[in-house]
Amino acid sequence: MTVTAVLGAGKIGEALLAGLLQGGRGPEELLFTERHPERAAELTERYGIAGVEVGEAAKRADVLVVAVKPQDIEPVLAELAPLVGPGSLVVSLCAGLPTSLYERRLPDGVPVVRVMPNTPMVVGEAMSAVSPGRYATPEHVALVKEMLATVGEVVEVPESQQDAVTALSGSGPAYFFFLVEAMIDAGILLGLPRAVAEKLIIQSAVGAAKMLAETSEHPVILREAVTSPAGTTINAIRELEKHGVRAALLAAIEAARDRSVELGKAHE
Ligand SMILES: NC(=O)c1ccc[n+]([C@@H]2O[C@H](COP(=O)([O-])OP(=O)(O)OC[C@H]3O[C@@H](n4cnc5c(N)ncnc54)[C@H](OP(=O)(O)O)[C@@H]3O)[C@@H](O)[C@H]2O)c1
Repeated sequence: MTVTAVLGAGKIGEALLAGLLQGGRGPEELLFTERHPERAAELTERYGIAGVEVGEAAKRADVLVVAVKPQDIEPVLAELAPLVGPGSLVVSLCAGLPTSLYERRLPDGVPVVRVMPNTPMVVGEAMSAVSPGRYATPEHVALVKEMLATVGEVVEVPESQQDAVTALSGSGPAYFFFLVEAMIDAGILLGLPRAVAEKLIIQSAVGAAKMLAETSEHPVILREAVTSPAGTTINAIRELEKHGVRAALLAAIEAARDRSVELGKAHE
């Protein structure tokens, strides 16, 4: 039995715990730490998982998953340093934080694997990218990949690509939610009841996502199939291009990448 402890069970930490339970792990294989007792009690009540102190988590768990905000990492590293050794495995889900930060602050030889997940983890549809640090072996990477495969898809990338991954799939769900929100507004503008507009757009998003995932067609081909000559869609596409939506996405994702780089530098 591999015991996994999530340090900082906020949005992404809770999504991981929920996803692991849904993927077949038992509550006795999972632990978490939280700052607020009320939040810890709420999570234990909801999932039957024990909330513990960091010391107990380090003693009982084989895998320690760090899921605090990058800005909160320093006290966590200070707490972990006297408790971990080369036999532990530290998995970081923190945007922007390099494995070298953990390696500098923890005892020599502690293996670290950096992961960028995303929130669809809560429904078993996460996209996670993993990168091993200096002391992580292929077996450590395989263990982390296996854990994440129970809550979605996993790819391995060189750590130098993690800032780009963070901007693309880490933040990615937010871009889709933003688009859906704007499209529902458009439905309201056209006089549709909100509930109808929501259903039309959410099902269109689910259908489009399934077509992308299940056919091997390029998105351009799928879009062209909806864009008939002198039809309605091409009129909409002209407006999207006129308003620079493609350029806005390029700039937005580049800005997210820059912020990820900045978060990492803050701890140098
Ligand atoms: N949300 C996403 O879409 C997403 C996607 C990919 C990666 N991530 C990464 O996941 C990490 C967590 O993000 P999040 O959105 O889940 O943030 P969050 O909801 O704020 O969760 C962090 C949790 O950790 C707790 N915490 C902070 N310091 C702690 C400590 N010393 N001991 C125990 N618990 C502590 C926080 O408690 P308080 O409430 O007291 O602060 C909070 O409950 C971040 O590093 C982020 O970069 C997030």
